[in-house]
Amino acid sequence: MKELFNDYVKSISTYIMFQIKAKANALKPELDKRNRSPIFLSMGAPTENPPQYMFDVLKQELDKTGVHSYSTPKGEKFFLEAIAKKMKSRFNVELDPATEICSLLGSKEGLANFIRILINPTTDKENQEVIFVPDPGYASYGQMITIAGGKSYPVPLTPQNNYMPDLDEVWDSYIKEGGKPEKVKALIINYPNNPLGATATREYYKHCIEFCQKHKILLMSDAAYADLYFDENDKPFSILEFEGGKDVAVEFFSFSKPYAMTGMRAGWICGNKEAVGQLAVLKSTIDNGLYKPLQTACAAILNSDEGDRYTYEANVRLKKKQDLFVQGMKKLGWPEFYVPNATFYLWMPIPPRYKSSQEFTDELLEKSGIVAVPGDAYGKYGEGFFRVSIVCSEEQIQECINRMQADGFTY
Ligand SMILES: Cc1ncc(COP(=O)(O)O)c(C=O)c1O
Repeated sequence: MKELFNDYVKSISTYIMFQIKAKANALKPELDKRNRSPIFLSMGAPTENPPQYMFDVLKQELDKTGVHSYSTPKGEKFFLEAIAKKMKSRFNVELDPATEICSLLGSKEGLANFIRILINPTTDKENQEVIFVPDPGYASYGQMITIAGGKSYPVPLTPQNNYMPDLDEVWDSYIKEGGKPEKVKALIINYPNNPLGATATREYYKHCIEFCQKHKILLMSDAAYADLYFDENDKPFSILEFEGGKDVAVEFFSFSKPYAMTGMRAGWICGNKEAVGQLAVLKSTIDNGLYKPLQTACAAILNSDEGDRYTYEANVRLKKKQDLFVQGMKKLGWPEFYVPNATFYLWMPIPPRYKSSQEFTDELLEKSGIVAVPGDAYGKYGEGFFRVSIVCSEEQIQECINRMQADGFTY
């Protein structure tokens, strides 16, 4: 049979989270019998309902006529203006809604398509174009780059570098390993980070801008978790707050995490206008934009007291759950581990008796029904760790700790 599918797509596998979910669901009948029904600490998807105010606006819109047709891939004017207003109030960043913002069908779509506007695809490994990606980092980056016909180069985020590596050292390693400078197209940064929860300092954002200016590459800042923080005096930054930001950077935002709207698929990209414009052109051949009633609901929640209160209260609950989980792990004998000031993730070492992260998370699932993610899913620097996403209820967190204790999962 003639080979129909391209080499890039054939070289990737189903996104790790869906694989893990399928595995847990397959084990469910057996786990149910043992009183160990799966508790999902895998997907980074809040389980609470989105803000009621967003629903109220959405429901009203649904009854209107003339709003159910195609939008545009860039987004309706009112939606782009609402985003500009939010970027101003949250980060003091001025944006031109007409040229510096584009809607996204979730930031995952935006990241994947943005990578496609950068990479000239080839299967010739020697000549593939390169994007520097955080490691550990969001598992999809690498696969997005692969399907675009490029390759990724890991930027190691370690406790030693405080999760903010010196990029000049990373560049030197890349060159020493035979990397060609002219092949590098972009650097992806992601603060607050998935899977670590780590945030970055002002100085580090400036360092990233300087690095990209020096090497004439684009800076892709994934800010999907920018509003999931626990300290009002230590809010995550936007790359666009810093001098030169708009010259080299675009930033990706999402409605998924701050408003628990993961299923609704809405986000935006903003920043450098050539890059935003190029993405909008690509998207115009692929999608026709966000559903207009959803844009109205998103615009409303973005600049409302209800929206601000919702994320604030969700963060307060999240912090409480984080404390509960951290205390529980301490009781189970875990050594000190990094407790972030942002996101719903916890990143912890696996007990030393396990040979790999995968072995540990498999056993955790098979014995206790606890669905966690092995660290190696996030890159080579993730081996030896596992990630939990504390999006479940407090009761479920307590249940996880109890099960771990009963089933012998001490450190
Ligand atoms: C770092 C990061 N970026 C982007 C996304 C994509 O989010 P969405 O497509 O729902 O906006 C995720 C989802 O988990 C993520 O962890």
